[in-house]
Amino acid sequence: MIDLHCHILPGIDDGPVSQDESLAMARRAEEDGIHTIVATPHTLNGIHLNPAREIISKVDALQEILLNNHIQIHLCAASDVHLCPHILELVASGDALTINDAKKYILLELPSQAIPKGVKDEIFELKLNGITPIITHPERNAIIHHDSQLLYDLVSMGAISQVTAMSITGDFGVFVKRAAEIMLKKRLVHIIASDAHGADKRPPVLSRAVEHTAEILGSYEDAMRMVTEVPAAILSGAMPDFPEPMHTKHKDRFFTNSF
Ligand SMILES: [Fe+2]
Repeated sequence: MIDLHCHILPGIDDGPVSQDESLAMARRAEEDGIHTIVATPHTLNGIHLNPAREIISKVDALQEILLNNHIQIHLCAASDVHLCPHILELVASGDALTINDAKKYILLELPSQAIPKGVKDEIFELKLNGITPIITHPERNAIIHHDSQLLYDLVSMGAISQVTAMSITGDFGVFVKRAAEIMLKKRLVHIIASDAHGADKRPPVLSRAVEHTAEILGSYEDAMRMVTEVPAAILSGAMPDFPEPMHTKHKDRFFTNSF
């Protein structure tokens, strides 16, 4: 499996504080059957800057440490970019890092309690310039909980979305779990990733979420695709095939039975 969203670099954001904790995370991931981790530190979130060159050099350093410790995990570099104005310019200046620095895909993190006004303009601009945004954990956004049409609109514009493994397994509460289930059923999310921040509390584990997703979708193959084929295509810069998102009614609420 591939974990496309993981805070594994030590001492760079609110992820692991030490190299030892990064190693513990990598071991946990390896045990779970993960062979590739995309390191995605917070970027431009008002606390952490983490320009591209710093992330890339820290990924190179951690990769060497993993090899020296006989951990069979391949690391890739990217960032968890807080959704803010002028992302295209921030990519060009090296302040925001696309996946593998390939300028094909970028992870965009929404604030948990709001949707910035210019979100559609930013997505339009990125798509126009050949960069596909990956919206991270929409199931954890309070506005989308109340307005499912918004996520449908973003996906229809060509954005991809990533659901967090612990949301599917219920570790972020019942509303988030319910939202994740409906988004999966409506094909509004395309990738499962851990968004791990440590070895214990928020670990890099995908297998449990894949099992839950297989039950939700009624297909183990479809669930596995979200941690294998889809992220592999993204890492190679290709565009995966996705099922059509199902339309949702305006102002439908993800945590009610209104679908
Ligand atoms: Fe994250």
